[in-house]
Formats: sequence, structure tokens, C-alpha cells
Amino acid sequence: MNRHHWWRDAVIYQVYVRSFLDSTGDGIGDLAGVRAGLPYLKKLGVDGIWLSPFYPSPQHDHGYDVADYCDVDPVFGDLAEFDRLVDAARRLGVKVLLDIVPNHCSSEHPWFRAALAAAPGSPERARFHFADGRGPDGTEPPNNWHAMFGGPAWTRVTEPDGRPGQWYLHMFTPEQPDWNWREPEVAAEFDRILRFWLDRGVDGFRIDVAAGLFKHPELPDSPDPEADARTRDSVNPLAWNQPEVHDVWRHWRAVCEEYTARDGRERLLVGEVSVPTAREHARYVRPDELHQAFFFDLLGAPWDADAFRKVISEAIDDIAGTGSTVTWVLNNHDQVRTVTRYGEPTPEGSGLGPARARAAALLMLALPGAAYIYQGEELGLPEVVDLPDDVLTDPIFRRTGSRARIRDGCRVPLPWSGQASPFGFTSGAEGAKPWLPQPEWFAEHATDRALADTRSFWHLYRDGLQLRAALPQLGDGSLRWLDTQPGVLAFARGDLVCAVNFGTAPVPAPFPGTPLLASGPCEAGVLPGSTAAWWIDGS
Ligand code: NOJ
Repeated sequence: MNRHHWWRDAVIYQVYVRSFLDSTGDGIGDLAGVRAGLPYLKKLGVDGIWLSPFYPSPQHDHGYDVADYCDVDPVFGDLAEFDRLVDAARRLGVKVLLDIVPNHCSSEHPWFRAALAAAPGSPERARFHFADGRGPDGTEPPNNWHAMFGGPAWTRVTEPDGRPGQWYLHMFTPEQPDWNWREPEVAAEFDRILRFWLDRGVDGFRIDVAAGLFKHPELPDSPDPEADARTRDSVNPLAWNQPEVHDVWRHWRAVCEEYTARDGRERLLVGEVSVPTAREHARYVRPDELHQAFFFDLLGAPWDADAFRKVISEAIDDIAGTGSTVTWVLNNHDQVRTVTRYGEPTPEGSGLGPARARAAALLMLALPGAAYIYQGEELGLPEVVDLPDDVLTDPIFRRTGSRARIRDGCRVPLPWSGQASPFGFTSGAEGAKPWLPQPEWFAEHATDRALADTRSFWHLYRDGLQLRAALPQLGDGSLRWLDTQPGVLAFARGDLVCAVNFGTAPVPAPFPGTPLLASGPCEAGVLPGSTAAWWIDGS
């Protein structure tokens, strides 16, 4: 098989830098904090880390508004600290992926400032999507597109002479103008950026909004703008998933291969790809395009055996079936954490959420392909659902006035130790405040407690990762579904069987003997409710 390609079944840990570990005492995590946390991650057993954006940025969308793609924001450190981090990771055998944001930049980016200062029709404006407004005085946006984070996708500028002028396109916030990828200078600039970081030794990139970049060349009205704003995956077919984007990924792949040819180290491109179907998704991971693309349908599936089986089967048939690898993900910095999503959203995370989240983790780690773990997932952290309005920073809250989809609750700084905030997150002076308040109950989830308790989420993840690394049946390869009763999923990976009971009542175990690993107490012959287990012949 394709075992020599490390990325086909890699397990990568997502580090949301500002919430991982703060080495300076300003209440915001930083790159030196990530370096200090590397031994912890090595012990957990991940193959690599993905660092959320740390570039100079006004932080309107926590770094997904990049003002300079080739530097480090002083809040997070500097390039010398970045080099130390890459060095330390290399010595530990942990790969480092950066988050690259090619769909849009910050309105503070020098090229966007130059565009604002330049005239309509200028080469400076051609790097973005500037257009005249509609209506008698150009007071209406050029088309009816909605921005992802609320409001219209266009903002009108004041021209250098002080008069109201053209509009520019931003599919997220007005502080995130979209690049015009039909302009060759933009593509060339991203080449320079890729090479800048590859030359500094990174192992690859997580690509933000990887189905974006190109817009329909005519920027026509959308037939159903309300639907574009509502649906998660098939958002505005005129703004996403245009055929030209595949040429960019082919080119980026070639750049990676060029570096591999030099030193033998395979680089990895993983795309954030939200498209309507698994078949469409598979086009992004063709052999000469991205190595991986997050398959979000598992994350979007409700806690239900049939729903899980459907999305897993589709991914395996349509993505793995083309020879590619499926990249599974249950959590990230944009989503309500599994412990809360699968259970009753009490602050304590009580109810069935934790048991289900543990079971889902074992299921994910048994599936063929690669997997991503979001920081805190290995601690069983619940979402913080009761942050007061005045601490919320997510632009979605500001722009929609709704708490419905806000993302601060999964971004609260990690608890490392102790009984009270800052729980070892910040090593600064006593009283240093994490940038989002940590609830008291974070104490139960602190890493020091998790490491000391063999029944913790942490041990489950660590044991799962160790077995995954040791057993050739797991990781890359194929899966065979086994017949089970309704509400139970079971599949075989060679002689290893993984079964999940989605119901609440115990069922007869689909495999004899004591499990090799289980997400909860599990005796031979019985699979309790909300539990997953792995068995292997002879175990
Ligand atoms: C996806 C990122 O995961 C999210 O955090 C960000 O707000 C948007 N892309 C825009 O860059």
C-alpha cells in the first residue's frame, strides 16, 4: 500500500496558538508557549501540529486577517522564536504545519492600503475585487452576495478625493478583503510566501477556505442569496468551488514536490474544503492536488448510527475509493466541542456528551485515513457556553448579533494545572488574565489531573494513538462493515474490530473476549451504551 507516505494516516494536533500556553504573561498564548508544550504533545503521540495563524494581524478574526504573511505578530513572538520552535519540533520528530490564508487578507495589508489609495481601474485595485456600485449613484452593492459572517459581501470605499466610490468584495468581514486570483501578481506573491516558510523548514500548510480563491468571473447575482447565507456547505456556488482553483493546488503541490526532491521530506497540504458532496471533495485530493482535505461531514453528523455510517461510507467510497486518503475531524476552533455537541450542554459537561465524545474518538482513530485533534479535545473539554457578551470576540457575534454560531466557547485558553484560573495557562505575574475567562470547572480538565488519571480522556487518546502506531491494521488501508443490530456500528480493519453502541442500553458485544481498548468500562461479551471498543483476535 501507500504506507511510505507519512501523511496518509498522520494524526495532527491543531494548536490554536492564542489559547495553548502563554509564556509572557500577557494572557495570550504564543510560540514560545507552543515550544514549551511540545513534550506534552510528543507524549500524547501525535505526528505533527498545525499552528493557527500567528502572522501580524489586527486580529479582527484572530489572525485569519493577515497583514503580513512573512512575519510573526509580536503578540506571538518573532521569527527567531519561530525558528526555535521548528527546531525543537524537528528534534522531537513532530511535524509543523502552518495555516495559510489565501482567500483574503487584512484590510491593513499594504497591498490593500495601496489599492484604497489608488484610482479605480488601477493595477493596485486589480489585486482585489473592486467594482462600481449599482443604482443611480452607485449606492447599491455590485451584486447581492452575502458575507459568511453576516451582512453584505461588499463594502463601499471613500475614494482618495473624499467622495464615496467603488465597492470591494469580502466573503467574511469587511476587514478581510478577498484577493483576486485572476491577477497573476497574487499567485506569484503566494508562491513567494510558500517558499519563505518552506525555506524556514515547515512540513506543510493547512489552507484556509481552500474551495474559495476564485469567484465567477462576471460576479453575477446569486439566484438564492438567502440560501447561500444559510447553508454550511453549498454556500454561494458563484463564489466558491470554481474550477480554476484546482490549478492553484496543482501548482502548490508541484512546489512541495520540488522541496521533497531536494531533501526527501514529504511536505503536506491539507485544505479546509467545504463542498456539497464527497465526490466533489475528492476532486481536491487528486494525486497531483492537495494531499488531504478535511472531511467535515463526520463532524456535522448527529449522534446516530445511521448518520455516521452514511457519511463514513460516502467518504470511503468517493474519496478513499479514488486512491486518496480521508481526513477525519471531530473538532476544531470553529465548532462546538464534541463533549457538548453530543450531550446536554451543561457547563459541567454532564450527561451523555463525554461518553459519546470518547466513543467518537475511538471510532475516528480506527477509521482508515488521517485524523486531526483540536487542542483540548484530548482533555474532554466541554464548550464554555456561558461566556458573557462583553468578552465575546468572534466577529460573527458582532456582525449578526446572534450567539447561535459563535466560536469563542471552544477557544477558551487551556487549563494546565492548579485549582483556579489561569490554571497554569499563563506563566506571568499572579493575577494575569487569560484573554477569555476560564470557568472554575476547567480545574477538572487540567492536563496535570488528566495525566494522573488513567480513566481520563487524555489516556484514552494516548492509548488509541499508541495502538494506532503499533498496529499495521490501523491507519491507512480499507474497512469492512460487519452486520450488527440497529443503533450499533461495527467494522473490521483486518483482524481488528471496532464497534460503537450509539444507544443507551447495553448490547451483546459483536466480538468475543475483553476489548483491547474501550472508551468506557466494558466487560467481555457486552458493549454498554454510548461506548466504543476495539478487539483483536487473541486479545
Ligand atoms: C476558516 C477558519 O477556520 C475560520 O476560523 C475563519 O474565520 C475563516 N476561515 C475565515 O478565514
